[in-house]
Amino acid sequence: MIPKRTVFLNLLLIFSVLLIGAQTTSQYLPESELSNNFPKPRIACGPWIQAAGETEFTVVWETNVPCISWVEVAPDDGTNFYVTERPKYYESWYGRRPVTTLHHVRIKDLQCGTAYRYRIFQQALLLDEGNKRMVFGEAYGNDFNFTKIEFKIKTLDSSRPESRFTMVNDTHGNDSLFRQLTKDVVKNKNNFVIFNGDMLSQIESSQQIVDGYMKSASELFSPFTPIFAVRGNHEHRGSASYDYMRWFPTSTSEPYYTFRDGPAFFIALDCGEDKPDSDIRYYGLSLTDQLREEQAEWLKQIITTDEFKSALVKIVILHIPPYPNGGQWHGTHEIERLFMPILNNAGIDLMLSGHLHKHYYLEKGAAGNNFPILINSNKTRLDAIANKNGIDLKIVDANGKILHNYLIPQ
Ligand SMILES: [Fe+2]
Repeated sequence: MIPKRTVFLNLLLIFSVLLIGAQTTSQYLPESELSNNFPKPRIACGPWIQAAGETEFTVVWETNVPCISWVEVAPDDGTNFYVTERPKYYESWYGRRPVTTLHHVRIKDLQCGTAYRYRIFQQALLLDEGNKRMVFGEAYGNDFNFTKIEFKIKTLDSSRPESRFTMVNDTHGNDSLFRQLTKDVVKNKNNFVIFNGDMLSQIESSQQIVDGYMKSASELFSPFTPIFAVRGNHEHRGSASYDYMRWFPTSTSEPYYTFRDGPAFFIALDCGEDKPDSDIRYYGLSLTDQLREEQAEWLKQIITTDEFKSALVKIVILHIPPYPNGGQWHGTHEIERLFMPILNNAGIDLMLSGHLHKHYYLEKGAAGNNFPILINSNKTRLDAIANKNGIDLKIVDANGKILHNYLIPQ
């Protein structure tokens, strides 16, 4: 390992050489100020994996200062990461690398069901003069130990015999509960984690996402286990709610999307708000009636695709479920009016929901549903396995105790 001080002195030397040859630059960068102005780029939160598929995934992370960034990827073959130069992937905003604090790097052209190692890097700017930008302070992880930290992620695989996943919802920023519910995600060999909405009560800043659950997710599982997130009604609220899709980008760039894992095809839907868009609580900003209408049209197309029709198991993820007398709420009424007629005729095996802060298992027909609906509470997680025999569902509390167990036969 190269001592930090040596790295720093070497970088100083490089920049000293640059300064000698650049009169205009040197007046901005006297050596005495270089160390004082040294922007120390650090990972503030992450990384986490979004929009995972069979041949691609997106790495997302936040840095403490604006940086340019990249990801290096290597096969999981036991070789030293430095045995050769590894492919580098960059974020591109219309052909230019962005200087930003929230980074999204898409990795493509991978093999399905295959493990890859990846490492994330960022460089902060010491001087920004447009095209004469100078980068400084390259860091991997949160220190300069380049050789040790790497993450491993496995692409999804439609041919594997089972899909094993876990789901949490309605934690409303209760980080300690979130930690308890997700501490064994990696140990339990989950293929992915579902966030089924209302992870915060409202989003007033990115820091709330960090403090409410993503810092913990980063420490516990998110560098290794993909996340599939849908919004609950509460993620529609708050001055920073517009940033939600930047934190949790999807394969469609919309808050509704699909993915396939093992024998199961998943449809992730956005429930919208629970009250009418004109409600005073939304300050005239809500357009979720329109969002649900758009989704219904999209959903009609999805259920005609070969990918959907050929899947042995079909699962819908939707924060607000239909439930007895749920139609007394506008949002639920619209879900029942727009989504349920399509889903009821599509051969759906299961809907996964939250919102009610209490566990229910709705058999077919309980609320106009042609398939069972599992509603997870705000204090438990769902552990699920879908395979050729059916879907095994376990509701587990924060102490790891199994409270309920259901089997939906194939
Ligand atoms: Fe909710």
